[in-house]
Amino acid sequence: MAKKRKADELLRGRFAGGLHPALDRINRSFEVDRRMWREDIEGSIAHAQMLGAKKVLSAAAVRRIVKGLKAVADEFEDGTFEPDPADEDIHMAVERRLIELIGDDGARLHTARSRNDQVATDLRLYLKHLSQRTIARIHDVQEALVRLAQRDGELVLPFYTHLQRAQPTLLGHVLLAYVEMLGQDVTGVTYVGEECPLGSGAGSGTSFPIDRRHTAKALGFKRPSPNSLEAVSSRRDAAMFTAGMAAAATTLSRLGADLVLWTSREFGFARLGDAVTTGSSIMPQKRNPDGAELLRAAATRVTGAMTRLFEIQRALPLGYAKDLQEDKAALFEAEDTLLQMLDVAEAMLGDIAFDGDRMHAAVTAPDGYVLATEVADWLVVRGVPFREAHEVVGRLVSVAEAHHIGIEDLPLEVFQQVHDAFDADVFEVLTPEGALAARKALGGPSPANLRRELRKWAGRLGL
Ligand code: ARG
Repeated sequence: MAKKRKADELLRGRFAGGLHPALDRINRSFEVDRRMWREDIEGSIAHAQMLGAKKVLSAAAVRRIVKGLKAVADEFEDGTFEPDPADEDIHMAVERRLIELIGDDGARLHTARSRNDQVATDLRLYLKHLSQRTIARIHDVQEALVRLAQRDGELVLPFYTHLQRAQPTLLGHVLLAYVEMLGQDVTGVTYVGEECPLGSGAGSGTSFPIDRRHTAKALGFKRPSPNSLEAVSSRRDAAMFTAGMAAAATTLSRLGADLVLWTSREFGFARLGDAVTTGSSIMPQKRNPDGAELLRAAATRVTGAMTRLFEIQRALPLGYAKDLQEDKAALFEAEDTLLQMLDVAEAMLGDIAFDGDRMHAAVTAPDGYVLATEVADWLVVRGVPFREAHEVVGRLVSVAEAHHIGIEDLPLEVFQQVHDAFDADVFEVLTPEGALAARKALGGPSPANLRRELRKWAGRLGL
């Protein structure tokens, strides 16, 4: 039986004395990277089994290593794993504990690998798992949006450009815009971990007769990474994945912004339930949409993390450097924030009531002129060039505005004074419902399109 190795002896064979406490604090990453324990153990089991298959380790040693690693996994799983104050990171902690449990064979596990290829492998495995969890949660938020659109989708409201009332739309069309954006975000957080770094050693491969295809396959990658230096130096996957998370967070941020507007007294389009509304410490009447505001702002944590992941690598000479250890803190902050944002968005969408009357009032308010485009289009259909029609309707708007009425309130004679193509049929498009029914072009908000899109999404999400 080998002498029991202390955790800090695993790495410090050549040094006299311990590490300076300040160095130790900044260098130690266990509390951050312990959340990769599953991936670390999964990678080690695959590595040990490959070493067994290649007769680098005896079958008996591999059996003991695998059993020992599973015992360590159980300790993490049930919360009984006891970190040693000297555990530098998750890799050293698992190895230290393995050696405590099984002795010498545990000390053979690190044959033909380095923490550099180990951590790169763990990280890619982690991204794969994180990708699956994130996609499932995005689907939940999409589902919440689709359910609202099924319930209230045909309510009519204006959509905005420059935050000015623009044209009529359907609430369902607005909600499905977010569903589409989140669908694109799913693509952004879909991680296709194709190349396995394991076996790249410290950055220059290994002289042991390893089988990298074996470990790549066992860990669910398509193939071993072709260049050992690239494999240990790059955190591109993590940076790109975090960019995908940043995009999703940005979508939720915009949803938050809309919720803030819709629930304001000025808009009054929506009311959030008590459980997702906060009060004011001084103004008893307040119902504040703090959750939506935090959705707006929390996204900056994710975009910030994305920036950090690229910045950590910017100007970094090729090869492993401890700079790369900072990747985990950034990735995990993005993960925690985005998943929390998805929870908040789902909760708020699950407890919201829309005010169809307020929406309708906004779209029919005489001073909104949201139907002006319809009148122009009506002229175009009757042969008037669009630019001319645009100008004609501009004149109608200014006449109506001067009298504080809507275009639809102007008598036909006034229409005919500005253009002789007008007849009484024009009043048919001068209702939001008439305008929407006509917006049948692909991608537009006609009720028929909405129903088709709702079926599409219900099918995709399995509702
Ligand atoms: N904790 C380290 C990291 O996350 C593991 C790799 C350590 N490699 C090294 N050469 N010191 O990057």
